[in-house]
Amino acid sequence: MIFSKAALAAAAMMASSTVFARRCGTPGMTPDQVTSFNTLATKAMTKLTAVKANFQKAELQDVEEKVIKVYVHVLANGTKVEDGYLDESQIHEQISVLNADFSSAKLSFNLQNISYTIDKAWADGLEEYAFKSQLRRGDYSDLNLYFPLTLPDSLLGYSHFPVSLTQDRQDATSPKDIFLLDGVVIRSDTLPFGSYAPYNLGRTATHETGHWFGLDHTFGAGGCEGKGDMIADTPMEASPAYGCPVGRDSCPDQEGLDPIHNFMDYSDDGCMEEFTPLQKAYMHSAFETYRQNVAGP
Ligand SMILES: *[C@@H]1O[C@H](CO)[C@@H](O)[C@H](O)[C@H]1NC(C)=O
Ligand SMILES: *[C@@H]1O[C@H](CO)[C@@H](O)[C@H](O)[C@H]1NC(C)=O
Ligand SMILES: [Zn+2]
Repeated sequence: MIFSKAALAAAAMMASSTVFARRCGTPGMTPDQVTSFNTLATKAMTKLTAVKANFQKAELQDVEEKVIKVYVHVLANGTKVEDGYLDESQIHEQISVLNADFSSAKLSFNLQNISYTIDKAWADGLEEYAFKSQLRRGDYSDLNLYFPLTLPDSLLGYSHFPVSLTQDRQDATSPKDIFLLDGVVIRSDTLPFGSYAPYNLGRTATHETGHWFGLDHTFGAGGCEGKGDMIADTPMEASPAYGCPVGRDSCPDQEGLDPIHNFMDYSDDGCMEEFTPLQKAYMHSAFETYRQNVAGP
């Protein structure tokens, strides 16, 4: 059977709008954040070996491992597994996935505590400010992970980029609100052994934690001619990758195949397996700049 181009395009659009396609709700960067990102990404290159000789094979140099304290908050609508009341073993599995995925980036995670709240609206991922201002623990250097039963708009998760809590801001958000809203929110059925296949190996937490460290999506606005993810060793791609389209090359005029195995793309959990060297270096730079030794306001 021969499909028309229009029919194929319509089918592709339907595939990307289905409930089962990865969707991340992390808000885009402001122009200020883009400027800071580029400055920091250039500085981060000094944390890599052999940048000029062989970027892709560069490794982190003079970077100490950072251990991130983690506070987990379960938001359920009852005390059964189907109510989102996660078993502790599943949370430990999720932390193990984070530790495995970030180990080559010299970042590790140390679970401090788990809180359980039963609240119908919070379990539906509603009232973000209310649940975070009540539950957030630790400093700006500590990672709070919120696991509601589900999220609106078929989102799998969302996060907030790190920003300076002291610099003057053009948007009206106060440092206190930035601090309270900080953290990662993901649907509880995306945890390892959750029911949201093919997004149930815990990679949504990895992806959102990548945002928490400041990384953007591998597919930037503007497609092949756009700014990409502003990371020099991530190949450009025209749009998010879904599934695991090995060999995809959506920007054939630019170097490299699409970064479909990158944690910051939209591929299936089983397809995601890496950060680039500069993404790893950038996460350290952003953490040192924005989060390290920063308490709440
Ligand atoms: C919680 O929500 C889920 C999904 O809507 C539903 O299946 C379950 O019965 C609810 N549990 C309670 C205790 O209301
Ligand atoms: C863990 O969190 C719970 C609920 O917020 C709290 O009651 C408990 O004291 C905390 N435990 C530790 C060791 O921080
Ligand atoms: Zn994302």
